[in-house]
Formats: sequence, C-alpha cells, structure tokens
Amino acid sequence: MVGRGRGAAKEAQVDMEDLFSKTQIEDMRVSLLGWYGLNRRELPWRLAEDDIEKRTYRVWVSEVMLQQTRVQTVIDYFNRWILKWPTLHHLSQASLEEVNEMWAGLGYYRRARFLLEGAKMIVAEGGVFPKTVTSLLKVRGIGEYTAGAIASIAFKEVVPVVDGNVVRVIARLKAISANPKDSLTVKRFWELAAQLVDPFEPGDFNQGLMELGATVCTPTNPSCSSCPVSDHCRALSISRSDSSLLVTDYPMKGVKIKQRHDFSAVCVLEIVKDEDMSDIHLSDREFILVKRPDEGLLAGLWEFPSVLLDGEANLVTRRKMVDQYLRNNFGLDIRKTCKVVFREHAGEFVHIFSHIRLKIYAELLVVHLKGGMKDEFRKQEREALHWKSVDSNVIPSMGLTSSVKKLLLTDILKFWAVGHCMD
Ligand code: ADE
Repeated sequence: MVGRGRGAAKEAQVDMEDLFSKTQIEDMRVSLLGWYGLNRRELPWRLAEDDIEKRTYRVWVSEVMLQQTRVQTVIDYFNRWILKWPTLHHLSQASLEEVNEMWAGLGYYRRARFLLEGAKMIVAEGGVFPKTVTSLLKVRGIGEYTAGAIASIAFKEVVPVVDGNVVRVIARLKAISANPKDSLTVKRFWELAAQLVDPFEPGDFNQGLMELGATVCTPTNPSCSSCPVSDHCRALSISRSDSSLLVTDYPMKGVKIKQRHDFSAVCVLEIVKDEDMSDIHLSDREFILVKRPDEGLLAGLWEFPSVLLDGEANLVTRRKMVDQYLRNNFGLDIRKTCKVVFREHAGEFVHIFSHIRLKIYAELLVVHLKGGMKDEFRKQEREALHWKSVDSNVIPSMGLTSSVKKLLLTDILKFWAVGHCMD
C-alpha cells in the first residue's frame, strides 16, 4: 500500500496536462473492466457472500494479508483464519496470542494486532462496519489503502486504491520517472488513480488495476502485448521510439534504505529432571521460552532466551553474556545452582527483517537444577509474565518468531532439543 502522506507540508500541484484525458479515462475503464471480468482470479475472499458484514470482514482480512505477501501465500492463511474466526464478532473474542499464532510466518505482526484491535473497536461500537473511507480511517489500524479497498470493494464508494502494483501501472501509463516514494509523487499517484476509478464499479476497477500490475504489468517482465490499456501507455510508446528506454525503467527504482546490523546470542535452554543423559525421555523435555514485548518488532511472539550483542562476538564473550542474562532473568546460575549436562554451539544464521539484518549465534544448553533450586525456579516461573517453561511437544503450536522456527530445524536442535515434535 502506498500512503497518501497526509499532512505533508507542501501541497502538490498537479499539472492539468499530466492528468488523463476524458477519452483516455473512458476507454481505459471499459478495457480494464472487460479484462478483469475475463481474467479475475477466483480467490476465496471473492466468493459470493450475501451477508454484507461477512463480505466486508473478508475483504478487510484479505487486504491486510495481501499487504504482507503474495496472493498464493495469502490463500492458505486466509482460509485458516476464516475457519477459526468466520465473522468480526468471532475475531473480537480472540486473544492476541491466538491471532499472532495464526499470523505466524506472515511477518509484521503489528498488522495482526491491529485486525484484532479494529474488530474489538467495531464490535464495541455496535458491530457494524463503517462504510466510507472517512469513517473507516477512524478504526484502529485501518489506513488509506485498506480504507479505500474496503470502501470501494464492499460498499462501492468511488475512491481509489494505490498499492505497489497500481504505482507501477500508473508510472508506466504516464511515464512518471520521479521517485515513487517521494510524498509529492505519492500524492500524484493517488490523484491519477482517483481520476481513473470507475464510478459504477469502483471495487472491480480497483481490483482490476491491482491485478493487472500483479499479473501483466509485472516489475521485470511485463506482457505489454496482452495489456488491455497498452494503447494509453506512454512508457510503451516511448520505448518504441527510443531504444535506450524500456517500459521497465518505470517506475524509478527506490533508493535502498541502509539496513541496521544487529547481533544476538540465542540460548536454547533445556531443563532436564535427570542429569544422566542416557535416561532422558523424548516426551519429557522442557524448554524456556520468552515472550517478546507487546509493542514493537514481533510483538507478543515467543522465542528462545537471547541477548543482543554489541557486534560480532566470540564464543567466550557470548557465553559470558548468556550466563549473565540467565542469572538476571531466571535466577539460574550455571555454576552454582545448575549442573550443565550439555552445552554446544548450534550454528549461526542471518535473519532479514525489512530494516534489520540480524545475525544469530545459537547454542544449546541442557541443565539440571540442583536440589534447592528446583522449588525456587518453579516459584519464579509462576510469578513471571514474560517467560515460561514449556513441554517440547507444545512448542510447535505456539506463536513463534520465524527465527525460532529456523532454529528448530537445525540438525543439532532437531536431535537434542525437539527431535520428535517438529516433524
Ligand atoms: N492486491 C491486493 N489486494 C488486491 C485485490 N483485492 N485484488 C487484486 N490484487 C490485490
């Protein structure tokens, strides 16, 4: 989705010459709607549904998911979500933990939390969806894109929708070479999309434009010969007369944001009842999991204990940091109150978030609690809100960060830590 950049200090003046002409608009509406009618993908959220509230809820959930990933991936997530929470009312009763679990793998968990908070808000105010962009924007987590999509698709409000696909289509139609991330350019895309949107079928028109970008007017390999609006494409016409310019030169490629480099030491901490490893039962193993804060990156998900490092660190330094963390957070002293049964480096991974490159050093640490420590540890666990000790076969059903999932698949952890339960 592309925000309209409300509140930008400068007002963009759109040159009238740069708008689409009346004949262009009329022709493009007919061509695009015709194309969409023939080529629209059968997607679960597009299935006929008489109940307007249910239909709107489905549009909302699917549009939020589609902001995260490709249509093909969304289908499964969407079907599972609707099976669990078929209506807004069902969703409003869910817990954040359940929602995170359902969302696991889609990333940017804040969107899942907003869906939950939005559902609670709408239900608290009577359980009926707002019907216009202006009123939808008041719902927690609903921004310009989602409001436009819901209002036009579910309620036929004549409003535009601009996502990355629409930006690409319009940038090519108009041969716009300005940076598409620039707030004035973004405003211009919204204005051009508003000019184009069909007054009778705004929902189909908007979906058609997005679908055209996703399937025909693709980033690197557009099929201009099968494009229903190619007659109006300035980029195509320029590329035909000037061989040094390509349709794919539009839109201008964004400037890459410099990624932050973070480093962390993860400790998969297993507590065993018996210090004799030969007598450990696969079904009787427990691990400590820590809950991330309810705000910020990966909010509310569970992960193995970890410490953020200052930078690259050798094994000795990492262990020192981990030991200190275990002492401070769980009252576990590796030398005094625990007996180390097994401790081994388990590997290094790089996990990429949109703006962070996180290097993870992982180790497996198996400990046995010494006599008096057991009761003290259980007492601390009962009082703790942000961590718990869980049985290995419960782990896969929890809302886990994807780096935890990656870790669970490494050979050493598969064998020692969760072996049988991650098949
Ligand atoms: N991309 C995001 N939402 C879409 C929709 N409703 N139709 C087609 N493509 C989309």
